[in-house]
Amino acid sequence: MVLCTKLHRLDLRSTFFTSLRPSFTPNPSSSVSPKTFKFRPTKITAQVSTLSVETSVKDPESDIESLFSSNTEEIDRKRSNKQSNTGASGISSGVKLENITKSYKGVTVLKDVSWEVKKGEKVGLVGVNGAGKTTQMRIITGQEEPDSGNVIKAKSNMKIAFLNQEFEVSMSRTVREEFMSAFKEEMDISDRLERVQKAIEGATEDLELMGRLLDEFDLLQRRAQAVDLDEVDAKVSKLMPELGFSPEDSDRLVASFSSGWQMRMSLGKILLQEPDLLLLDEPTNHLDLDTIEWLEGYLNKQDVPMVIISHDRAFLDQLCTKIVETDMGVSRTFEGNYSQFVEAKAAWVESQYAAWEKQQQEIEQTKDLINRLGAGANSGRASSAEKKLERLQEEGQIEKPFQRKQMKIRFPERGRSGRSVVTIKNLEFGYEDELLVNRANLSIERGEKIAIIGPNGCGKSTLLKLIMGLENPSGGEVLLGEHNVLPNYFEQNQAEALDLDKTVLQTVEEVAEDWRIDDIKGLLGRCNFKADMLDRKVSLLSGGEKVILM
Ligand SMILES: Nc1ncnc2c1ncn2[C@@H]1O[C@H](COP(=O)(O)OP(=O)(O)OP(=O)(O)O)[C@@H](O)[C@H]1O
Ligand SMILES: [Mg+2]
Repeated sequence: MVLCTKLHRLDLRSTFFTSLRPSFTPNPSSSVSPKTFKFRPTKITAQVSTLSVETSVKDPESDIESLFSSNTEEIDRKRSNKQSNTGASGISSGVKLENITKSYKGVTVLKDVSWEVKKGEKVGLVGVNGAGKTTQMRIITGQEEPDSGNVIKAKSNMKIAFLNQEFEVSMSRTVREEFMSAFKEEMDISDRLERVQKAIEGATEDLELMGRLLDEFDLLQRRAQAVDLDEVDAKVSKLMPELGFSPEDSDRLVASFSSGWQMRMSLGKILLQEPDLLLLDEPTNHLDLDTIEWLEGYLNKQDVPMVIISHDRAFLDQLCTKIVETDMGVSRTFEGNYSQFVEAKAAWVESQYAAWEKQQQEIEQTKDLINRLGAGANSGRASSAEKKLERLQEEGQIEKPFQRKQMKIRFPERGRSGRSVVTIKNLEFGYEDELLVNRANLSIERGEKIAIIGPNGCGKSTLLKLIMGLENPSGGEVLLGEHNVLPNYFEQNQAEALDLDKTVLQTVEEVAEDWRIDDIKGLLGRCNFKADMLDRKVSLLSGGEKVILM
């Protein structure tokens, strides 16, 4: 559906329109989710060549002992190396789901899910909100256990990377440190090598300790070789320009980059770990159009088996080689991209419907025949017709393709507004030293639907808040039309404001005090909340279900 009748290019902060360089968006109301700006204090591990040495106040003897690899550590390492050599699973790459089922408290989410993703394939998982797409990813990563069925992985110690909308970056690191943090084991070895070397320099008096430290140094060096420690720096240096970072960006803080650039860091860290499988759960939700386009191009070049959940059809069209639809807990695989899926699905529904109709006719005719023949002389023919009916109804029963009802939302009748709805005159607004809205002018008339577009952090949400009167302009004015204009605002991340401990029913009851309970249930039903979901806690809803509830 085409919603927009008009595209306005407002003179929001002009630098954003002219370049895509990383920019700091420190204002609290920018479109960056608060989660991505969470300050996580972390140990700063600098690049390999300039590793920081941990200073410690522990007693020197136990401190020295902590430098030595423990036996269990060695055993764990050998065990994991050993695992990597076993991998006979019947598939050469990626992962295969076979007849997966999953229910929560008796409510079935997945009934029969089977599909596969291999090297070079990009599978799009599609289905309505709550269909169980994220659940399938969680089953692949092992965060959830299926009730039955198999998850077959090409090798047992497969590296599975998961990218979702909340990019895992640490604001206090520099960009280079952030990329380096992808190499956890390597950084740990490098850190320990440095500490052991320092300890050797200080242990000239104690020959026994010196001997042990030299052995440890030797062991760590072999481990460094095994993990290709020397390559780490080179790998980061090679990847950074591919992701669009310049050499000068290395020492800038992660916090000074917009969310689109933080996503690039998150993705970069994942790719540095050379995953065997890449899972992306709605990665584009908060990204601006330019960054989405960049992400499409970048992912297209990757060969790793990839599974993508997205409600962005164009994104799926650009990337996917195969679509897996989950409907009523059952998965179906369609070769091709999203558009090809839509066509193939329509054809499938049509032929399935025709087959179902034909079978229904056959069932009716057979029933008729049985009635007509009855008992007596024709009983032989009647019993073979009964057998046929049994076979039709039980074994070969074709399911009627399910036609999902469109969700119906009715806005309350408000009567027609006047022609002029909003007039914005020379509007100015900024935070501290940053100008977001620079003498913007806009008029909105009755019936218009307007898209406001622009890079992450350029002030789109801020403009809506100014129209709602939730922010005060520093210059200019916003005038609402005089006749029958009732502004309302559906905020970005609004669903995050839901109380996670309440149930679906309680959430709506609270805001619809004067509604009858049956009307509330009816409304929720029209929004696809089935009766068995009304007592479910909001915390357990899928991402999309939360938004619908809001
Ligand atoms: N721990 C749980 N307990 C009860 N129900 C759950 C739990 N986890 C998920 N569900 C339910 O399982 C269903 C599938 O959830 P899932 O998150 O997989 O959906 P989804 O297809 O990813 O939806 P969306 O498109 O909205 O992200 C939803 O109805 C959800 O409410
Ligand atoms: Mg989901």
